[in-house]
Amino acid sequence: MDQIIKIKEVSKKFQLFWEDIVIFDNINLEIERNELILFYGPSGSGKTTLLNLITGLLLPDEGEIQVAGLYLDLIPEKDKADYRSNYLGIVFQENNLVSTLTVTENVVLFQELCEYESEDKQERIDELLTKLGIDHRKDSFPAQLSGGEKKRIAIARALSTNPYILILDEPTGNLDRESANDLCNLIEEVFLTTDITIIISSHDQKMNEIASKVYKVGSKQVQLETEYPERRKGEEIEYRTIGSLERGKDEYFFEDETLIKEEK
Ligand SMILES: Nc1ncnc2c1ncn2[C@@H]1O[C@H](COP(=O)(O)OP(=O)(O)O)[C@@H](O)[C@H]1O
Ligand SMILES: [Mg+2]
Repeated sequence: MDQIIKIKEVSKKFQLFWEDIVIFDNINLEIERNELILFYGPSGSGKTTLLNLITGLLLPDEGEIQVAGLYLDLIPEKDKADYRSNYLGIVFQENNLVSTLTVTENVVLFQELCEYESEDKQERIDELLTKLGIDHRKDSFPAQLSGGEKKRIAIARALSTNPYILILDEPTGNLDRESANDLCNLIEEVFLTTDITIIISSHDQKMNEIASKVYKVGSKQVQLETEYPERRKGEEIEYRTIGSLERGKDEYFFEDETLIKEEK
């Protein structure tokens, strides 16, 4: 099984006035495509920072990060958004839904911003809303939805462009216990029924029940804590090839050799 994410000797610090705050000191980590990864750790331990490094929203001070074969430090700043929209589905802690648009319109707008092209664009949205149990909410506005429903919409939107990796930052953070449990089950179902790799940051104990690998984030490190090989995706899942599917990849990353580093 090929590695979809490689984090090599990465260090990251923030500068706060005259002081450096070291968040990560030389971390190493590889993630395979069939995994549901949980980054577990208390508030302030660096979970969001780690996700931001993977999405290219932050660059490491040292070391390198490779996602689906791309060295993130080599992607020009102007193409970073293309990297995210072609490869990743990101669900931020705050959902970031557009309040003046309906559920469907939110998803359609996102597909358009990502320039996602596919013959079954609209069917994909309908299918996702059904799968996530929110099809009856498709004409509602975000303010009319519960916290759990908003999160499901944000997930549907993230999945609407058929990404390789779904990234969720504290998805159950603002939910009551019951909605949080429902959401966990739903994320597990998405994981098991698609070829998508899932990465979750959380301090919700319940997430431990669905993850195939749990990493502890804290003390400037990311350490593998527990592995559940039986929860990995089985052999029967067929994975799409990465790097030859949608617009953007060939144009930006693979044709221009200066953007590609030699594998060591
Ligand atoms: N842009 C920034 N500038 C300075 N400090 C930051 C910045 N972003 C995060 N931090 C600090 O880094 C630490 C880790 O933050 P974060 O990754 O958001 O943690 P978590 O998501 O685990 O709660 C916190 O102490 C936070 O205050
Ligand atoms: Mg956070």
